[in-house]
Amino acid sequence: MDNNILVETRSLIVDFLCGTSFLRALDHVDLAVQRGEFVSLVGVSGSGKTTLLNAIGGLITPTSGSVIFNNIRFDSMRDEERTIFRRENIGFVFQNYNLIPSLSVFQNICFSAQLSKGNVAASEAQKIAKQLGIEDKLTEMPSELSGGQQQRVAIARAMLAKPSLLLADEPTGSLDSINGRAIIQLLRNAVVQSKMSVLMATHNEEFASLTDRILYIEDGKIVAEERRI
Ligand SMILES: Nc1ncnc2c1ncn2[C@@H]1O[C@H](COP(=O)(O)OP(=O)(O)O)[C@@H](O)[C@H]1O
Ligand SMILES: [Mg+2]
Repeated sequence: MDNNILVETRSLIVDFLCGTSFLRALDHVDLAVQRGEFVSLVGVSGSGKTTLLNAIGGLITPTSGSVIFNNIRFDSMRDEERTIFRRENIGFVFQNYNLIPSLSVFQNICFSAQLSKGNVAASEAQKIAKQLGIEDKLTEMPSELSGGQQQRVAIARAMLAKPSLLLADEPTGSLDSINGRAIIQLLRNAVVQSKMSVLMATHNEEFASLTDRILYIEDGKIVAEERRI
């Protein structure tokens, strides 16, 4: 048992039913993320990045294999238990942001932290909005924002809840190089300051090169690994 490991997968398989045949989206994935580690997952579109993040985060149930979080088998928890566990431990930045359209930017930013911690200091929400350059958007509705701004709201929402694991699905996808690098730096600060672990899917090698370790995924398999530091 390695207590430095926050989450690991063992022989994780996810099959999707497509018509009458199965598509193997994840094929025996074994990986481990250390506490306080910033890992990127690099692969082309369709390689299985989103499926892997969703399986690790318990949003989909694997066909076989296991996800072990803090030495607890997460995939075999009952639904209700798993929901509570996820809320308290895992943050998501979704590829399509998943902001709540009827809530303001400020309410969106506070939403996950309110669910997991019950209470949020407005000053903390403002601070993180400032770090992300969206402090002047707090009273606006998500539909009034650009894609890049919505993406930063989704990142602020996930970070404010201070999860032990942040799963970020192409969090820099709508951002240019300068804004993308700023986001990576912000995630890096969160990793250092709060010992958060981050697993970030990306197809951008430049951003991946700024993380501690790169896992390359192809056709649902981890095919290579590169340690940066
Ligand atoms: N809900 C689903 N039903 C059927 N096939 C899916 C589903 N989600 C993903 N897939 C397929 O699984 C493979 C991996 O997809 P995905 O994890 O979204 O890749 P990526 O995020 O790297 O682009 C693709 O072939 C995709 O078409
Ligand atoms: Mg994806």
